[in-house]
Amino acid sequence: MKNPSTAKVINQLMNGELRAAHLYWQAGGWCIERHLDGCAKLLLGHADEEVTHMKRMLGFLIDCEYPIYFDALPEPKIGAKTILDLFQAILAHEKTVTDNINAAVKEAQAIDDHSTFEFLQWFVKEQREEIKLFQNIIDRINLIGDGPQALYFIDTELAKFAAGNAAASGSSG
Ligand SMILES: [Fe+2]
Repeated sequence: MKNPSTAKVINQLMNGELRAAHLYWQAGGWCIERHLDGCAKLLLGHADEEVTHMKRMLGFLIDCEYPIYFDALPEPKIGAKTILDLFQAILAHEKTVTDNINAAVKEAQAIDDHSTFEFLQWFVKEQREEIKLFQNIIDRINLIGDGPQALYFIDTELAKFAAGNAAASGSSG
């Protein structure tokens, strides 16, 4: 069953995943400039994950013989002043992505598009994990506080998240 509205929604989500990768590459650059190599590793690794999400959306459009539309990428602006600001902005971004996925699930349900509904379930789970990951990171940053060597400890801690994430994404794609 083909639905023009589904084609539009999945194209929008696909472009959203690409914009997310672009944002994470820029956020990785923000960290590199500040010598936060562990944070950069996590964010650049995450950008790669967003590319795999984009490809998953693209694959679905191809399988369903839907048209494919790539938008121009806006400049990814990082307005953060602190590492906590940066991860709070990232969490807010992931919550927006989650809302968009949920809206797509609702629409698929409303038009009885079971194939799209089933396809989107992977993303529902993925977004739950994304929110948990970035909330955990914010909790760690808050626990470490803002003592004299806080940035060093945060960077060391996030390098551990990066290693854990790389191991997990190797199995889930
Ligand atoms: Fe994603």
